[in-house]
Amino acid sequence: MLCLGIGAASSLLNSCKMPHYANGKIEGTKLFVALDEFYDVSKDGKKVERKYILAKHDSLHFPICIYRISENKFNALWMQCSHQGAELQVFGDTLQCPAHGSEFNQNGVALSGPANKNLRAFETTVEKNNLIIHLV
Ligand code: FES
Repeated sequence: MLCLGIGAASSLLNSCKMPHYANGKIEGTKLFVALDEFYDVSKDGKKVERKYILAKHDSLHFPICIYRISENKFNALWMQCSHQGAELQVFGDTLQCPAHGSEFNQNGVALSGPANKNLRAFETTVEKNNLIIHLV
């Protein structure tokens, strides 16, 4: 999708925002991401919730897109296309592949091909002030 931003609807503008990257901490097979990463501060000083963030770590080949579905429910999706393995890009509720155009929703379900398999999804748990992504 081309993000022109001129005369576009606000949902389109939201999808054009740069995604927020969060550096995670790995212990064993767990990736820890601070829940604070899901919040930003607006220009007028208000706390604003982010619908999704991208978690990364030097040892991971791809980022993990984490959608916040509700207060304690998250979808953590490996950002490697299930078609031929290209890194996906996130645009709001949709993950898109720059290689051949496949699209996935925030549950990792393939919406349009050529990919016909869903994305790899990880179990998540919340512990204290962290989201834990179980990498197995
Ligand atoms: S690698 Fe993603 S659609 Fe082909």
